[in-house]
Amino acid sequence: MDRDFWVARWRNGETGWHLPHPNPLLVEHWPALEVPKGTEVFVPLCGKSEDMVWLAQQGYRVLGNELCEAAVAAFFAEQGLTPTREALGEALVRWQAGPYTLIEGDFFQLSPAWTAQVSAVYDRAALVAFPPAMRPRYAEQLQRLAPKGAGYLLISLTGPVVPEMGPPFSVPEAEIGRLFADMEWLLKQAVKQVERKGQTWSETVWAGVF
Ligand SMILES: C[S@@+](CC[C@H](N)C(=O)[O-])C[C@H]1O[C@@H](n2cnc3c(N)ncnc32)[C@H](O)[C@@H]1O
Repeated sequence: MDRDFWVARWRNGETGWHLPHPNPLLVEHWPALEVPKGTEVFVPLCGKSEDMVWLAQQGYRVLGNELCEAAVAAFFAEQGLTPTREALGEALVRWQAGPYTLIEGDFFQLSPAWTAQVSAVYDRAALVAFPPAMRPRYAEQLQRLAPKGAGYLLISLTGPVVPEMGPPFSVPEAEIGRLFADMEWLLKQAVKQVERKGQTWSETVWAGVF
């Protein structure tokens, strides 16, 4: 999916993935990682997710990354916050207010220097937003960005495989094992059936340590 695809989704309000409340799987499974309060949690491809608000309410600082300016602006506006904005080189902009720092721009342009303090990564609708050919690149970059020992909470989806259908994509469990071959998994739990695009999908929660 290229930039134009996502910009159009935000412009047209086609953001069916967005939940108006924290994801119940985050609330249930986050404690398994035992991430110290007061530390920084990285949320790649964050959209304007309420999950960031829940993480902040638990006492974390949140470092999000999102391609679309409209999503970043909407997040701060909906939280009633007026962020500062600062260019990070030519391609990225850092927005900051309260416990939230959101880096606007392409995930693949992020540098490990900006994620060096991260104690955990929360991935909901990020890995599954990429088509199969892009996922190795995503996993490689995530492992470059996440400090060794950081926690990883991943919510993955498996469902009908129709490549031209667009995101979310079904990600087979065996592929997750291959993409994150060095990960020390603490938990893998198939949780529930969800409806996406009129079909039944399964959600699985994974918790691990980079
Ligand atoms: C399916 S949404 C999930 C958003 C959020 N994680 C949630 O659960 O609500 C994927 C988001 O990733 C953003 N995105 C897509 N490609 C990206 C990239 N290369 N770098 C940063 N963000 C990207 C899109 O604009 C979109 O907001």
